Amino acid sequence: MSDSWAISGLDLHLDLAGPRVRASLEAALREAVRGGRLRPGTRLPASRALATDLGIARNTVADCYAQLVAEGWLSARQGSGTWVAERAPSVSPAAPGPVAAAARRIRYDLRTGVPDVSAFPRQAWLAAGRKALGAAPAQALGYTDPRGLPQLREALAGYLARARGVAVAPDRVVVCAGFAQGLELLCEALRARGATTLAAEALGYPRHWRIAEKSGLSVTAVSVDDGGAVTAGLSPADALLLTPTHQFPLGVPLAPARRRQAADWASSAGAVIVEDDYDGELRYDRPAVGALQALAPEHVVYAGTASKSLAPGLRLGWLVLPARLVDDVVAVKSAAGRLSSSLDQLTLAEFLTSGAYDRQVRRVRLAYRRRRDRLVAAVRAAAPQVRVTGIAAGLHALLRLPPGQDEDALVARAARHGLAVEGLGDYRLGGSNGGDGGPALVVGYATPPGHAYSTAVARLCAVLSAGD
Ligand SMILES: Cc1ncc(COP(=O)(O)O)c(C=O)c1O
Repeated sequence: MSDSWAISGLDLHLDLAGPRVRASLEAALREAVRGGRLRPGTRLPASRALATDLGIARNTVADCYAQLVAEGWLSARQGSGTWVAERAPSVSPAAPGPVAAAARRIRYDLRTGVPDVSAFPRQAWLAAGRKALGAAPAQALGYTDPRGLPQLREALAGYLARARGVAVAPDRVVVCAGFAQGLELLCEALRARGATTLAAEALGYPRHWRIAEKSGLSVTAVSVDDGGAVTAGLSPADALLLTPTHQFPLGVPLAPARRRQAADWASSAGAVIVEDDYDGELRYDRPAVGALQALAPEHVVYAGTASKSLAPGLRLGWLVLPARLVDDVVAVKSAAGRLSSSLDQLTLAEFLTSGAYDRQVRRVRLAYRRRRDRLVAAVRAAAPQVRVTGIAAGLHALLRLPPGQDEDALVARAARHGLAVEGLGDYRLGGSNGGDGGPALVVGYATPPGHAYSTAVARLCAVLSAGD
């Protein structure tokens, strides 16, 4: 597929906030052409595809294209699409501004974290919201229970027990703004009870360590290897942050013996395990790994999120807490006024109980599995020296580079090809070596919208096959 196909609304970094959507789309496209970011001959996405990516009406895009064709910025022919005119008015390729330069650097985003938000199930979400709001009692729109609306806690309890094997009752559930806020609430509550230390996997998500530190906890490293966190001989800590279903970023499940070991450690030390189940539903060719929490519900906080299955912008997550922590966490949450939106909660409750959430999970599982298969096949063919691991679940893969290859140099070269990827070193806690020293890239395959994905993978393969 040619490069020139790969422009999407997201790639263009268009900010279409405000009432004059068409005018700002026109201005943004003009600016992209004028500044040289969209070069002559570059083909633009079909109006339907761009409209979907940007969340606007197709006619708005079609009208905008027609206007820019009339002005000479774009060319179009019936049945052949729309592209940047060969001689657009006053193109000045020299010295694009810093914004244009940055945008060019990340035309294809293969970092982890964000699912394909252009595939968000807007219609199903709207239908659930309409139905839920219509049926909601007026009190649901007042100041509500800081644990979350009862409808949602009930729905989550049912879903988590069935789909994730969590030992849960609705009164143990606290709704929060994604995992990040759940962790923050918990760390603050633990700190207020006298906790001082959180142990975390030596390879993990840096923002989470910073959240714990901001709450006053010191963060120590637990080694990880191909069986997940090394749980034998854990040093004393008040809490242990784990990704047992799908170690982030190695992509492996916690070995069964280690699950037991971790649960026993928490029970005997009176400590708390925080189970980050960020993408537990997204597994492909392995059986479901149930929640670790079920082994020790009074010592494990189960934490889930809608950020991977639906969208991070929803800011919806949930904690399932041991009895002794419920009041403390709720107190922290309400003291700071961190209540969650009733409308979003009602909508998610309806989404869960109607079966729409299950359908969404099945749909994205299929879509991401296809993306993963394409990535793995392409990398194996183009760069057989690279070992692809951690692929049985989730939204990212680990590309193990030959020993001695410079991870940072490869990330920099990818950036020159317009690709954003990250090295494993970006996820290393402090000076620890994580127990897993080799160079690797952490490649997320979910973020690019569908029509940009092939180009993103092709560019990655070109970068990998070129060597150091
Ligand atoms: C390891 C891990 N846990 C949790 C999350 C989800 O965070 P949140 O629910 O705050 O969006 C992410 C998001 O990228 C993550 O990488």
